[in-house]
Amino acid sequence: MNAKQLAAEEAVTHIEDGMIVGLGTGSTSYFAILGLAARMKEGLRIQAVASSQGSEDLARQLGIPILPFSDIEAIDVTIDGADEVDENFNLIKGGGGALLREKILAANSRKFIVIVDDSKLVRRLGAFSLPVEIIPFAYELTMRNLAALDCKPTLRSSEGKPFVTDNGNYIADCAFGVIESPAELSNRLKSIPGVVEHGLFVKMTETVIVGSGEGTIAYL
Ligand code: A5P
Repeated sequence: MNAKQLAAEEAVTHIEDGMIVGLGTGSTSYFAILGLAARMKEGLRIQAVASSQGSEDLARQLGIPILPFSDIEAIDVTIDGADEVDENFNLIKGGGGALLREKILAANSRKFIVIVDDSKLVRRLGAFSLPVEIIPFAYELTMRNLAALDCKPTLRSSEGKPFVTDNGNYIADCAFGVIESPAELSNRLKSIPGVVEHGLFVKMTETVIVGSGEGTIAYL
């Protein structure tokens, strides 16, 4: 079993009958969705909400019932991956482009379990370019304002065209280098008109499960 799958399957053991589960996005969350479906075959009864169309489609194919957001008050547990996790459990997310919906789910969950392989652990965030979701209108100006925060923003592209998120927006991948203060940078990013959301998740989780290539599982 690979490291991502190990972490994902451990996270799935936290899910209990009757829970509403938030489904993350990405290659680690993929294993969590598979794990939930396997537990449902053994009798677990859950309902889910998804952080991307891709995760929703996968869940439906596997028979996991998806709820409309209008039907729920809160999510019991959300399980999701991350691109970087620092010593204080701050995260960079959005490598798969789903950061906005992922953050909405995480912020509305009683428990947010992050699942990673050990390559994602860092002392300080920033080696991974920070994904920032921006409105397509005048995106060139928004990118200039991002650059003024002392980073090198690159418009994410796919097959020669701008990558478009599930929300119809663009992603600017911002190379900051070491991020000294994630909380301060978060506030500065949110103050730029045109920025919808960014991939810094500051103090949003208390549970990080790490799988390793050697087959071990650790809780940070
Ligand atoms: C999706 O937008 C991301 O936030 C993912 O959760 C993150 O990129 C981790 O992805 P992997 O599990 O594929 O490494």
